[in-house]
Amino acid sequence: MDALTLLHERSSMGKLMGPPPSPEQLEAIYRAALRAPDHKELRPWRFVEFSGDGLSRLGELFAEAEYREDPHVGDAALDAARKKPLRAPMIIAVIARVTPDIAKVPKIEQVISAGCAAHAILLASHALGLGAMWRSGKYAFDPTVRKGLGLEKDDEVVAFIYLGQLGGRHKRLAEHDIDAFVEHWR
Ligand SMILES: Cc1cc2nc3c(=O)[nH]c(=O)nc-3n(C[C@H](O)[C@H](O)[C@H](O)COP(=O)(O)O)c2cc1C
Repeated sequence: MDALTLLHERSSMGKLMGPPPSPEQLEAIYRAALRAPDHKELRPWRFVEFSGDGLSRLGELFAEAEYREDPHVGDAALDAARKKPLRAPMIIAVIARVTPDIAKVPKIEQVISAGCAAHAILLASHALGLGAMWRSGKYAFDPTVRKGLGLEKDDEVVAFIYLGQLGGRHKRLAEHDIDAFVEHWR
């Protein structure tokens, strides 16, 4: 697949199944992530890879977040939270590891850089014939989840990327009207 075809045709896949990506595929994926644009070479990225029991541990963290938000939460909601990470054989949490108060590189630039790394993971996964879906959801911003993942005060969870083998067909791509988004100053 040439680079422009990849950029034009990448799409998300929510239906995922095992096995998780191989070590060789993961190496290609992380190499792509580590090529993200990066002002002042801060490398403001952290990746936490969940598979096997790690997915259940992440689910427990999501359930704990529900409980801490509302100690009267029902069993069904706790169970639903536990099961969320089990929708894929692997999840990569992309975390912006933010260096505060650094000249010329405000926090937003560091978070954007981590977003670019997340996009690179999606693109590399697609190029490898894998399925991937960027999810955030409320858990990305939850204090219990942040603590459980070891975030510092200024860090951000940018993405939970669900990753695995394609469990369905890619949807038809929407055609966008370029002129609706582009202005010209000439
Ligand atoms: C920052 C960010 C967070 C997202 N969070 C979610 C999410 O929590 N749940 C979800 O269904 N889609 C989420 N999405 C959207 C999907 O990843 C996906 O981009 C969207 O469904 C469009 O599909 P496409 O990537 O094939 O165009 C998120 C996208 C971004 C950029």
